[in-house]
Amino acid sequence: MKVITLSLAFIFCSFIQAADFEYVGTNKCKSCHKSAKKGEQYVKWEASSHSKAFATLLTEKAVAIAKEMKLETAPHESAECLICHTVGFGSGGYEVQDEAFYNPADDDKKGKKAAKRMLNLQNVGCESCHGPGSKYKSKKVMQAIYTGATKGLDVGMNEVSKETCLECHNEKSPTSKEFNFEEMLAKISHPMPEAPEK
Ligand code: HEC
Ligand code: HEC
Ligand code: HEC
Ligand code: HEC
Repeated sequence: MKVITLSLAFIFCSFIQAADFEYVGTNKCKSCHKSAKKGEQYVKWEASSHSKAFATLLTEKAVAIAKEMKLETAPHESAECLICHTVGFGSGGYEVQDEAFYNPADDDKKGKKAAKRMLNLQNVGCESCHGPGSKYKSKKVMQAIYTGATKGLDVGMNEVSKETCLECHNEKSPTSKEFNFEEMLAKISHPMPEAPEK
């Protein structure tokens, strides 16, 4: 009996934990991470091709790839493509939605919020690498992570490494190229201006 209670408690706790960290969308990181003084991470991201990854799925090239693979839906509606071209597809992030979802009634505040969030989960966003932001995006928590008072992982923030990149930059990508971590990182790098020694 005790064992059952314990394992139930464990299942319940891991359930809470999973639901605890939600993907909030790239626009939620913008306000604090766009000024030059702070390192303009948002500006650098916007200039990178990660910010266009969803639009890429609407191109002729993408459609041709999907046809070749005999997909039944368009690339931007196919799990086979969305898994690497959006934030958190299949793990609480981006989902395929219909027109009605994106056109909520004027007085449907919740619906409007949900639609905005979904649009901001298109593309490879901040949270694709840094992890779901619901629990770390407040100024207080962000500063605590920065000073080391809070461990990023405890509030959903990943330690980004080469492995993070390889989740998408691998041979499952239909256009896969060799991935040189140092070279590719240099292309998207967006450090803090005066990064402390870590
Ligand atoms: C309310 C403002 C605010 C928001 C919103 C915010 N941040 Fe931050 N972030 C900060 C502050 C403040 C720091 C600490 C460094 C500093 O003072 O510039 C920081 C630090 C970071 C760091 C470095 C952490 C470390 O290891 O030292 C990362 C990565 C980061 N933010 C990512 C994000 C992402 C991704 C989002 C959106 C999900 C986000 N931030 C939203 C204010 C914010
Ligand atoms: C969630 C999936 C995903 C992750 C994680 C990811 N990428 Fe990407 N990356 C993409 C996609 C998709 C593209 C293609 C975007 C486009 O052109 O539409 C891309 C494109 C790029 C490009 C531009 C390609 C070129 O040849 O110029 C660079 C550079 C890059 N990624 C670097 C990185 C680095 C470094 C990391 C890890 C720190 C990383 N990426 C993590 C999905 C990802
Ligand atoms: C395993 C992750 C992954 C999957 C799955 C994936 N992509 Fe990509 N895609 C990438 C990455 C990473 C890039 C950047 C270039 C590269 O290294 O392949 C990219 C780039 C692209 C490009 C731009 C290539 C160029 O050089 O112009 C197109 C088009 C594309 N993907 C279409 C698709 C389509 C269509 C699907 C679904 C059938 C798909 N991708 C599935 C990761 C993925
Ligand atoms: C493709 C993966 C990827 C994406 C997308 C991404 N980052 Fe990063 N981020 C990294 C990596 C890797 C580092 C550390 C190395 C570097 O920047 O040179 C980093 C570093 C940072 C830092 C500085 C941490 C420090 O201690 O200097 C902040 C702040 C940050 N990112 C915020 C953001 C925000 C905000 C976004 C979205 C607008 C974003 N990142 C998008 C991978 C990513």
